[in-house]
Amino acid sequence: MTYQPKKILLTGCAGFIGSNFLRWLLQKDANVQITHLDALTYAGNLESIKDVLDNPRHRFVKGDIRDAALVKQLASDADTVINFAAESHVDRSIDGPRAFVETNVIGTFNLLEAARAKGGVRFVQISTDEVYGSLGDEGKFTEETPLAPNSPYSSSKASSDLLVRAYHHTYGLDTVTTRCSNNYGPYQFPEKLIPLMIQNALSDKPLPVYGDGLNVRDWIHVSDHSAGVWAAAPRGRPGEVYNLGSDNEWPNIDIVKRLLAILKKPESLIKYVKDRPGHDRRYAIDASKAHRELGWRPQTDFATGLEATVEWYLSNRSWVSSVTSGDYKTFYERWYRERA
Ligand code: NAD
Ligand code: TYD
Repeated sequence: MTYQPKKILLTGCAGFIGSNFLRWLLQKDANVQITHLDALTYAGNLESIKDVLDNPRHRFVKGDIRDAALVKQLASDADTVINFAAESHVDRSIDGPRAFVETNVIGTFNLLEAARAKGGVRFVQISTDEVYGSLGDEGKFTEETPLAPNSPYSSSKASSDLLVRAYHHTYGLDTVTTRCSNNYGPYQFPEKLIPLMIQNALSDKPLPVYGDGLNVRDWIHVSDHSAGVWAAAPRGRPGEVYNLGSDNEWPNIDIVKRLLAILKKPESLIKYVKDRPGHDRRYAIDASKAHRELGWRPQTDFATGLEATVEWYLSNRSWVSSVTSGDYKTFYERWYRERA
């Protein structure tokens, strides 16, 4: 089935990936009308979307996907739901898993129910490669890899993916799920590896590397993820899952050293700290199904994308100060004190 999404209910687009997607989509497609629901948690900030808030094709609603009645009302005139909203940070899920179950599982359930009640809606679920668990030295995740999530975050995402699957099989809801690898780029909250290391290096603070620093992640620029979602939304086959990734695996320590080199800061800032409990060793995505069926391919060269990302953080230091609230600072101090 190919159709063109027009009236879209988007969720969670005051966060990192969603804000990039929202900006990208408004530029890309002049015909979309977007209703955008975000609860503005610590990770969601209007500062990240202030340039599109007045766009007549974008209506922002502050509200929660856990609010079933609100979600149902907003979905009632949508032809497409794209669900980015989630609690997304693994460390916080270890520290306090409840919000992850409530938002990622119950919130997605509410959206699915709203789409089912409306009828004729395409439902796009933004998921993650972390639902597949951890790889050894060989192989990559395909869409056939069994789900084996290891953290409260990834298990809550896997749970929502299973609900999406069930709504397709049981109720015939027209669903598509994308599972992307680790994203980097502008507007990423400075709790995640790349922006955290940039911020600490800029303040000459220690760069906390978990364990031996040899855990491997597969990095993709957020603009390539946006293009992948927008390829899957009209072209994905109903009920299918599409992995999105850039064939770009790096051990964490190499990323940290590259960032220090770009910033011209010394490697003596690196501090190996106590590992994250249950830390997945390696992620790697086989995205050949998305290449084949969606005609999508990532475009961003990693060296260029990483330098541009550092440049963005250097030029947007006021954004960082405005989004790092007292709540985040309290979490940061406690979490890293416990790992010292
Ligand atoms: P983020 O934490 O930066 O943003 C999440 C957004 O969701 C915020 O705007 C927040 O306010 C909003 N939100 C949270 N709870 C909500 C609720 N109950 N109701 C309404 N809004 C709520 O996350 P991100 O990194 O941009 O990730 C976006 C999506 O992409 C998530 O579903 C995540 O699982 C998935 N994903 C992320 C990555 C990655 O590398 N960051 C990779 C693959 C998939
Ligand atoms: P993160 O950005 O939290 O993404 P995810 O856990 O979802 O992959 O972490 C990326 C990698 O960086 C992961 O292997 C954990 C590691 N990491 C550190 O070594 N130190 C840190 O302070 C953080 C936040 C992450």
